[in-house]
Amino acid sequence: MRIFIDTASLKEIKEAYDLGILDGVTTNPSLMAKEGITGKQAIKDHYKAICESVGDGDVSAEVISTDYAGMIREGEELAEIHPNIVVKIPMTRDGIKAIRTLSDKGIPINCTLVFSAGQAILAAKAGAYLLSPFIGRLDDTNWDGLELIDRIVRIYDIQGFDTQVLAASIRTSLHIVQCAEAGADVVTCPMKTIEGLFKHPLTDIGLEKFLADYRKGNPEK
Ligand code: G3P
Repeated sequence: MRIFIDTASLKEIKEAYDLGILDGVTTNPSLMAKEGITGKQAIKDHYKAICESVGDGDVSAEVISTDYAGMIREGEELAEIHPNIVVKIPMTRDGIKAIRTLSDKGIPINCTLVFSAGQAILAAKAGAYLLSPFIGRLDDTNWDGLELIDRIVRIYDIQGFDTQVLAASIRTSLHIVQCAEAGADVVTCPMKTIEGLFKHPLTDIGLEKFLADYRKGNPEK
């Protein structure tokens, strides 16, 4: 399973990349706004900087247009920024048409804002490279986000679809583990949920004891 970071913060991306476990980045208009990145050129420059921070990792960059022609124009512009760019297209009627067209042109697509298995089937049929079901937002509405990941993974497996399941809207470190168990191909996570994977009190207690025992035998060190 690949691990992406879900942020537009260059500082967080560097921190995660330096851990040696990062496979890519996802952004969205809300995350770009959170970093104060506004204006067409500044946004493009920021995507370029992100791409240059993650080796050959995928970087999802989302279109703002909601009509087919606008998505195609924007998708092509985004894809030109850097070879790492994966164009993020929302799961709408125009979005599905745009996914088909851009995928046929060889531009990798991440279909976003997916909340049902039916939407997942449409995106796969249209040729999406990645599919982003939002599990946290489903949990927020009393639907089971993990169950959706499990269902889509099974459908893609049974049907032999190549589209990869990228579990998004991850809220907890446990979500990451559960997505791995469900067979998600990728998880995209806020930094704090990646950091949560490190933590176990017995690790801290064990290390403290090892070091204390070492110091007893090596008082000068
Ligand atoms: O990748 C999608 C993600 O950014 C949405 O997360 O926490 O806003 O539901 P959240």
